Amino acid sequence: MDLKNSILTKSLPKHIAIIMDGNGRWAKQQGMLRAFGHENGTKSVKQTVEACAELGIENLTLYAFSTENWNRPKLEVKTLMKLLVSSLKKEIKTLQDNNIKLSAIGSLNTLPEKVHKELFEVIERTKQNTRMTLTLALSYGSREEIINTVKEISIKVKNNIISAENIDESIINEHLYTQNLPDVDLLIRTSGEQRISNFLLWQIAYAELYFTSVLWPDFTKQHLYEAIIEYQKRERRFGKTSEQLS
Ligand code: IPE
Ligand code: IPE
Ligand code: MG
Repeated sequence: MDLKNSILTKSLPKHIAIIMDGNGRWAKQQGMLRAFGHENGTKSVKQTVEACAELGIENLTLYAFSTENWNRPKLEVKTLMKLLVSSLKKEIKTLQDNNIKLSAIGSLNTLPEKVHKELFEVIERTKQNTRMTLTLALSYGSREEIINTVKEISIKVKNNIISAENIDESIINEHLYTQNLPDVDLLIRTSGEQRISNFLLWQIAYAELYFTSVLWPDFTKQHLYEAIIEYQKRERRFGKTSEQLS
């Protein structure tokens, strides 16, 4: 049985999140500029999105640009924003052909106007799609998201819409950018770094973490399958004992 079919015999993660890292190092290895790595990274995005849809993964969230990434050299930020616009224009067809709905999380108002416009156009055009939700984390930082959540809930408490005593996990979930998404089941990070870099801190509370040394532009369907197979081998106990589960 090939990897894909063996994956389909076991329970699938409902939500996969990926920290797509290593574009710069990949380019450097080829003696090229960082931008070349980012361009090649888009091929891995396409492969991953298609592979997840084919497998029947319901939610895929990709970390594309962090709040901290604004501190990179101006030219690199500009290149990344340009690449976003061109990828959105180019891949709308892939999304439509595969019945994929696009969504976005992050401080989206801080994105350049062109990116914002293109992003919301694709979100609008794909909103009826049902096979998978692809969420792009753009100008996303988990701490910023939590601060925003606390502000929104505080205002509602002040206006007597929510009482402080009733604040619970579900109220917090409803105010996060990820309000419509289930918790992350599997978090993948490429490039060998073993850190979270301010991604989905609340939502990964019980996610399985998978780190691979593969650099993002080298990441293929096969690597995704390997990550899911590893996930399927893990026993998710959620605090219980192994005996309780069986
Ligand atoms: C990930 O690759 C892409 C973004 C963060 C936008 P990097 O650009 O971080 O590549 P490395 O980590 O420097 O190799
Ligand atoms: C995290 O990667 C952000 C994205 C993948 C978009 P970084 O390369 O920016 O993270 P650090 O700086 O290594 O933690
Ligand atoms: Mg990096």
